[in-house]
Amino acid sequence: MAEQQTGHEAEFFDIFTALYRWGGCDVRRGYGGWVPEVYDLMEGDFEDDIPRVLELAEETGGPVLDLGCGTGRLTIPLLQEGFEVFGLDCDERMLDILRAKTAALPEEDRARLTILQQDMRWCSTPRPASLAVCSTNTFLYLGSLDDQRQALRSIAGCLKPGGTLWLDVFVPKPNPSADEPYLTSRLLPDRGTLILYGTQTREDHFSERSLVNAFTMLLPRDGQPQVYLQNWTYAWLHPNELRLLLESTGFRLTVLLGDYDGREADESSVQMVAIAERNP
Ligand SMILES: C[S@@+](CC[C@H](N)C(=O)[O-])C[C@H]1O[C@@H](n2cnc3c(N)ncnc32)[C@H](O)[C@@H]1O
Repeated sequence: MAEQQTGHEAEFFDIFTALYRWGGCDVRRGYGGWVPEVYDLMEGDFEDDIPRVLELAEETGGPVLDLGCGTGRLTIPLLQEGFEVFGLDCDERMLDILRAKTAALPEEDRARLTILQQDMRWCSTPRPASLAVCSTNTFLYLGSLDDQRQALRSIAGCLKPGGTLWLDVFVPKPNPSADEPYLTSRLLPDRGTLILYGTQTREDHFSERSLVNAFTMLLPRDGQPQVYLQNWTYAWLHPNELRLLLESTGFRLTVLLGDYDGREADESSVQMVAIAERNP
């Protein structure tokens, strides 16, 4: 989603765009914490949450609302297990990739998918869902408490009374690498392209937000390097804030999990998954 750039971020873009262009790279800009063209290469093989999400879908029945469904990491296994899915995302390019991937599915699976290009702060579904899933920190891209509250009210309106919400966010902890660059790389299986990914994060403990500047660089063995520059804000939620936010938007927190195996969250947890019930 396009966001207003601060002076700090504009400077980051301008300096690095100039530098990369000087180095012969094709430079593209993005504003979220995801780059559609490389999302599956970087994140597509994360599967830890899938078994528990499928179990929950089994318990609640469909339809399942996949909030910020992106390229379908959860949408596709849900369809393959026979659930009706509302795949909701605001990013057209992520949804284009989802469309291309689902085109390869059998017709009966494809027929159970409704793609909704919407912002989850103002979402609506063709009919009420039994389960809404907001995976792996997606909710924290809603960069303020007001946006998060708006989204939860809207999501509550898309669920059946008593419907279930799965909300997976990181547990805020002082980040030792904040203000220091982070760099990682990945060589694609065909060994033809090296991906370099780097971030610089600034933490604002007063407003409880991380401001992240990132680059993703694709270095093909042959061909022009490509760089994607992006920035985004994570608005953290501490466990008690999350509970209060849910309670003030029409939900009751059933359990706060600390991993995807059913263990409850505690001080050692890195992620927390709120399982909440929409008030009847
Ligand atoms: C980190 S990706 C997660 C994709 C997928 N759920 C997964 O687990 O792989 C976050 C997705 O959320 C979408 N997104 C972010 N903010 C959104 C909003 N306000 N409304 C709808 N979608 C949003 C982005 O476009 C992106 O596709």
